[in-house]
Amino acid sequence: MTTKELIKKAENTHLLSKDEIVKILKDEASSEDLFVAADMVRKKYVGDKVHLRALIEFSNICKNNCHYCGLRRDNKNIARYRMNEDTIYKLAEHAVKNMGFKTIVLQSGEDLFFDSDKLCSVIKRIKTLDTALTLSIGEKTLDEYKAYKQAGADRFLLRIETTDKNLYERYDPDMSWKTRIECIRNIGIAGMEIGSGVLVGLPEQTIESYADDILFFKKINADMIGIGPFIPHPDTPLKNAEGGKFDLALKVMALTRLLLPDINIPATTAMETLAPNGQTIALQSGANVIMPNVTLAQYRKHYELYPGKSSTNITADEGLKAVKDKIASIGREIATDYGFHQKKSC
Ligand code: 5AD
Ligand code: SF4
Repeated sequence: MTTKELIKKAENTHLLSKDEIVKILKDEASSEDLFVAADMVRKKYVGDKVHLRALIEFSNICKNNCHYCGLRRDNKNIARYRMNEDTIYKLAEHAVKNMGFKTIVLQSGEDLFFDSDKLCSVIKRIKTLDTALTLSIGEKTLDEYKAYKQAGADRFLLRIETTDKNLYERYDPDMSWKTRIECIRNIGIAGMEIGSGVLVGLPEQTIESYADDILFFKKINADMIGIGPFIPHPDTPLKNAEGGKFDLALKVMALTRLLLPDINIPATTAMETLAPNGQTIALQSGANVIMPNVTLAQYRKHYELYPGKSSTNITADEGLKAVKDKIASIGREIATDYGFHQKKSC
């Protein structure tokens, strides 16, 4: 089959083999066809509504040392912070009551200060508001995931980062790829929606490995997949790496939409950082979610996973307005529901 025919096949059946995915990813001439197909599938399965999730980065303290990440524990060039429960709750309350968000995302490094009791307390408080709640706080035990669910958490994001075991363990020292997979499985067992995803453009990541990534998303029955280009951070061991390419990350995202047609896919901040209008282009190539940052600027500037991420020059309200304008400019609407994964039979 030609690449064009393979894209059509994916658009209609949502099935491709690894070799077929590789062929599409390698064929630069048919990128545009791929983006158009992903946009059609997005429209057919999840519609024109864009779900907004308010991101609160409540602690930048992390026990891990991922080679690509600015929050890694060996980076001594950032000021570490940890919000208290009242601050977290007040940010969430403002986002829900005054800004109209229907999902709060609590994100942090792997900060051991926030044990189950502390997390469950803040989860319960936020769930008194009219909102869905997503956690993005790293690897935990099954019992902890169950406790979060019990307290009211609806979803949990844990990217696999790369399905290439050797690369994963090279760039995430002290971390085990098998444990990561186990954690992702446990999120589902605990009853939360499963969010995962990968980086695109780590040194030595291959096209074949992106194909494995996409098939992995299908295998774990992901509810949400975030894909972001890797952007080198100057205070990390990968500071001299070349970094990810916007178009390749977009292609991995578009193929994810073709193979998992009804899931939620964010237009990631890393896409916007790498290309002007990156998020708008992503919204037109398969994405249906944006996660505006509502963290106060005084904290946000210290949550630098990669350079250029934090847009500290604008307030949360200005950021939200910019996102709303983007959505309106491409004829899309903002969703007013909680934005759970609506499973459709393909
Ligand atoms: N570039 C892009 N994304 C990054 N992340 C961490 N470091 C970087 C970087 N340098 C992503 C990881 C993590 C998420 C919270 O941020 O994929 O899961
Ligand atoms: Fe910590 Fe996550 Fe950064 Fe790794 S990617 S160092 S776990 S914050």
